[in-house]
Amino acid sequence: MATAGTADRAERNPDRRGSAEGTLRDQEIMHESLESEAKALVLYRELLKCVEGRSVILEEYARNMVYAEELHASEVDKMLRRPGEVAAVRPAQQSAA
Ligand SMILES: [Fe+2]
Repeated sequence: MATAGTADRAERNPDRRGSAEGTLRDQEIMHESLESEAKALVLYRELLKCVEGRSVILEEYARNMVYAEELHASEVDKMLRRPGEVAAVRPAQQSAA
């Protein structure tokens, strides 16, 4: 249900018209966020490879960050799906170069 404030914003900026799936700009921001999470995940996995067997502290740090980034990416992915959709927007796994 649109409130007076929502209607005012929509009139000032047509791209801010609300819908059940969010605005086009919201979707763009979420896709950019998903890309950022994926890039961070690749870098933390690369860090993990570099420190494995050399430093338990850095290994644990890298593992915790990989965990956090995987969680963030899955949350953003869920927000991009339509209600009832279960398939990921795009694969969450990316290998380090
Ligand atoms: Fe993140």
